[in-house]
Amino acid sequence: LDINNIFEEVVGDEGFKLEELEEYKAEAEAAKENILKAEAEGKMGFMELPYKQKEVIKELKATAEELKEKFDNIVILGIGGSALGNIAVQTAINDPYYNMFAEARNGYPRLFVSDNVDPDGIKAMVDKLDVEKTVFNVISKSGSTAETMSQFLLLRDLVAETVGEDKVGEHFIATTSKDSGYLIEIAKRENMKTFHIPDNVGGRFSVLTPVGLLSAAFTGVDIEELLAGAAYMDKISREADFWDNPALINGLIHYLAFKKGKVMSVMMPYSDRLKDLADWYRQLWAESLGKEVNRDGEVVNVGPTPIKALGATDQHSQAQLYMEGPYDKIITFLEVENFENKLEIPSAYEDLDGLGYLGGHSFAELINTEKKATEVALNKRKRMNQTIYVPEVNEFTLGQLFYFFEFQTAVAGELFDINAFNQPGVELGKNYTYGIFGRDGYQDKKDEFEQSAEH
Ligand code: PA5
Repeated sequence: LDINNIFEEVVGDEGFKLEELEEYKAEAEAAKENILKAEAEGKMGFMELPYKQKEVIKELKATAEELKEKFDNIVILGIGGSALGNIAVQTAINDPYYNMFAEARNGYPRLFVSDNVDPDGIKAMVDKLDVEKTVFNVISKSGSTAETMSQFLLLRDLVAETVGEDKVGEHFIATTSKDSGYLIEIAKRENMKTFHIPDNVGGRFSVLTPVGLLSAAFTGVDIEELLAGAAYMDKISREADFWDNPALINGLIHYLAFKKGKVMSVMMPYSDRLKDLADWYRQLWAESLGKEVNRDGEVVNVGPTPIKALGATDQHSQAQLYMEGPYDKIITFLEVENFENKLEIPSAYEDLDGLGYLGGHSFAELINTEKKATEVALNKRKRMNQTIYVPEVNEFTLGQLFYFFEFQTAVAGELFDINAFNQPGVELGKNYTYGIFGRDGYQDKKDEFEQSAEH
């Protein structure tokens, strides 16, 4: 984590002074102590994941091995924390054309993540799937999310029609809480294979549970390396002092930046592979930190707004705003030091000045030069930015990144003095839907909704 470009020497008056971080670092250390205390009380399940899943890993790998012989497709039905991690892993590790070409899959099944209830989107998928050769992983920690369960109902019908009622259970896996919710009940009735989401791991912190690991194993990702990367970052996050602890530093920087009016946090990977990590981070950061709290009778709203951008693509869309628009952002670049391919740009048209200069360089050089150019241009405009260097994108570094951002979120939650692990706003929306659709026990929400609608 290179934070040089947040300091006033580079970005002028609005930048940080080193003393400022020195002054606040005790608060970040105290945040870490609180997190470790909560962990000792069993409340920080995400911190246990790198170590406590040996048996689960064995079972996940065995299931993936067995089912890959029987099925050509795995479809994830889930939303939010039950979907975004799967997509981030797939994009980072597997070939971008994985689903399209058999040679990109090395014999592993195709992966689809259906995380919305747009009828056109669902119908388009359902019409094309070879149901006999498809297994569905229904992921819902609560086991009752309307978007996920409605898709399950549709696909259960289709599976029953296609392969017969008696074989329904063979086409579904349920990934859910061990003892609560409707999905576990259905899984038992249908005799589905089940995997569990630990109670002390929230949806958006669950990518390194079977939520993200099963589809990863199914598509040939080395899930042990993912967890090894997370363990590596866990050790640093829990043991290192402030200046050697990037999650503490970055949690504090974002907290202080918010106080300085930099209320938007842009994540801009210069890597296609990391673009969906930025999507995953967007949910983690938004749902964890966007909170309304009551402080001494006064309602306070906190939470930096996460924004996802992709370099170099979004240089041609959002960068202008970052350079000259309102100065309310802190930008975090992710720079990959070694791409799998360098890919030379051929030399041609050397007599044409505006084109000939490209030949002899590589695309790896080009994308990272574009990043550095954007960084320097932001510095010129006195806009705070920082860079996370990723040596290369692989399972180990991806595991580190997941854990790093999770720990950083917990730190920021402590600093903002909010509960980063609940989501009352999301729950309220879910409850209105239940009420409107006539679910038992939600009549009051239906009434509330109707009253508001009248206004
Ligand atoms: O982070 C969260 O808790 C949410 O984004 C959930 O993952 C999302 O609402 C889906 O919930 P569930 O897994 O219970 O279906």
